[in-house]
Amino acid sequence: MSEKRIESRLPGFYRAPLEARQAELARQAGLTEEELVLLASGGIGAAAADRIIENVVGVYALPLGLGLNFLINGQDRLIPMAVEEPSVVAAASNAARMAREGGGFSAEADESVMIAQIELREVALAAAATAAIGAARAEIMHLADTSVPQLTQFGGGCRDLEVRCLPDRRLVVHLHIDCRDAMGANMVNTVAEALAPRLAELAHGQVGLRILSNLADRRVVRASTRVPVTALAGDKAADREQEGATLARAIEAASRFAEEDPYRAATHNKGIMNGVDPVVIATGNDWRGIEAGAHAYAARDGHYRPLATWRVEGDALVGRLAMPVAVATVGGTLTLHPGARLALRILGVKTARELACIIGSVGLGQNLAALRALAGEGIQRGHMALHRRAVGE
Ligand code: MEV
Repeated sequence: MSEKRIESRLPGFYRAPLEARQAELARQAGLTEEELVLLASGGIGAAAADRIIENVVGVYALPLGLGLNFLINGQDRLIPMAVEEPSVVAAASNAARMAREGGGFSAEADESVMIAQIELREVALAAAATAAIGAARAEIMHLADTSVPQLTQFGGGCRDLEVRCLPDRRLVVHLHIDCRDAMGANMVNTVAEALAPRLAELAHGQVGLRILSNLADRRVVRASTRVPVTALAGDKAADREQEGATLARAIEAASRFAEEDPYRAATHNKGIMNGVDPVVIATGNDWRGIEAGAHAYAARDGHYRPLATWRVEGDALVGRLAMPVAVATVGGTLTLHPGARLALRILGVKTARELACIIGSVGLGQNLAALRALAGEGIQRGHMALHRRAVGE
């Protein structure tokens, strides 16, 4: 882990030749020549890939860019982003530069609590079963802990228990498992399978499904930023105050549109995931799980809503994001994917919650970039310029 002081404000970085950018990254993150070569060639070889999935015939790489200007909880971060869409990295860096003028992003993450779901079927007396499970709470939680000693050893384990009634004589027991710095899927599934027979016995029912829920609403990250309206205005604006205020109001209006209309909210959230997924992918995390959790959370009250909203408050535009971010800094793919480990080193993160805070902040920044463009010149001008560069026009 590099303890070097990271400087993420690097004017002119995008214009520098590829080798110069790589050298700057190596200098800041303390990468060796071999690590740089590995990163530049996709972060993983076929032999390592062969240890991760089945029937491997090769590896598939994505462009890896650095999101710049990010100041998150008072710390500068270089953000590795693996993505195929032109303009995403530039847009994130641009939004982070604006946010920086107001002190950057603040973020906090819940403990890494995942939900193990145990479905019980043919439960004749739901109330009696719920009471019996409640009475055995201490025993169940202890049993859960003993099924994953590798987790309790690191301070994780079962934190709570909840029983939900569903139609058709079904109960669902939720066990809340603190997975610490792991994503936790394997451990949570182990707990669910280990506890199911005892829970079925208590409920006088039959065991149904036993699996984690990707609606990780106990593992939510909350990020916010306070952007001075002047920072929204273009550098050449005649009156930054006025142009900034107009843009801020237009961004708030765009937020309200998403708050009222699920068709717009889906696209608004896609813009957020444009920032979230590239970091999740670069750090070897499960982006399908993150996507499933994000959209289920967006619709948790039965109406699909934006994951981030924006309001003008005094002379600033304030953005707030909340979404589940179940990511790991240990275990799983990370033990086998050298590129993912390097991405974590570049980020300089130690814990899963720290990583979640960064991912939430990048998602919020990406959303700001999209709304700033939509509220101003429109998405096509900036986006298409980068696209033309990509296709060599
Ligand atoms: C394009 O990848 C993402 C946007 O459509 C997001 C948005 O509309 O907010 C620009």
